[in-house]
Amino acid sequence: MIDLHGKHAVVTGGGSGIGKGISEVLARAGASVFVADIEFASAELTIQTLAGDGEFLCDIVDVTETSSVNRMIESAIKAFGKIDILVNNAGIIGTGKWWERETPNDEDWSRVHEVNVRGVVRVSESIVPHMKRCKYGKIVNIASIAARQGSPDLPHYSTTKAAVVSWTQSNALQLAPFNVNVNAICPGLLWTPMWESIARKRARFVGQTLELGSSTGREVFEQTVEQWIPMKREQTPEDIGNLAAFLASDLSRNITGQAINVDGGRFTN
Ligand SMILES: NC(=O)c1ccc[n+]([C@@H]2O[C@H](COP(=O)([O-])OP(=O)(O)OC[C@H]3O[C@@H](n4cnc5c(N)ncnc54)[C@H](O)[C@@H]3O)[C@@H](O)[C@H]2O)c1
Repeated sequence: MIDLHGKHAVVTGGGSGIGKGISEVLARAGASVFVADIEFASAELTIQTLAGDGEFLCDIVDVTETSSVNRMIESAIKAFGKIDILVNNAGIIGTGKWWERETPNDEDWSRVHEVNVRGVVRVSESIVPHMKRCKYGKIVNIASIAARQGSPDLPHYSTTKAAVVSWTQSNALQLAPFNVNVNAICPGLLWTPMWESIARKRARFVGQTLELGSSTGREVFEQTVEQWIPMKREQTPEDIGNLAAFLASDLSRNITGQAINVDGGRFTN
């Protein structure tokens, strides 16, 4: 049983999907959780669902804005006294109606990079002076199996996730002397709002039109799970939360600089 009692965590993008699932698992393990999201109302809803012995707070943050990130990290440290765990989960797959474009446009490339890569670096750099002072920290970056193989329809997204894995390796070496572990998780296929927009793109290019939340979107997802995942089942936010909790605990004290797939066997290296 992973025990995070007395630990304090910040989870970015915790208002939805995987970030919400990670927040729930950390809370159940006993951690206090500070949920930060660009959608404040979603972050508020998440903390209302959390159950555990810790304290649960939320804040608004835009990970593309340094001042917003610094303010959020300062308020988390002030509220909890110390932060032991950072989960860099906030991520996007494209910009407005990206699924209607056969190839990503300039805005897709730059905004996705700003959120998925610079956002991760920005939040880590904001919290690292505190972790260095504490001589303790656990940073978990949410990458993707998109980092493991090229993608014809999501090249901008895959590129950013490969960069998150590379950043994780560099940052782990920078922070090893300060007893800060930095690892990445590469989730497989999860039915979240992000995957709904992927389903719409995939369906569009085989001639279907999908409405958000349509059963057809879910069918596209299920077909992809069937084709891609050797274990023939989708991954869940709780699956990702379970690994995040392990990496955030002292059970993983000698694991750093790694990127671990949670993908039902899709990639075996
Ligand atoms: N769903 C999947 O199959 C899958 C697979 C692999 C990796 N991932 C990764 O997991 C992470 C979470 O994805 P998800 O599927 O839960 O997506 P999601 O869209 O459900 O959640 C993303 C969250 O990030 C927040 N966010 C977006 N931009 C932000 C910003 N600038 N600042 C702060 N918060 C911001 C959103 O408001 C949302 O709450 C992402 O990094 C994604 O790339 C998802």
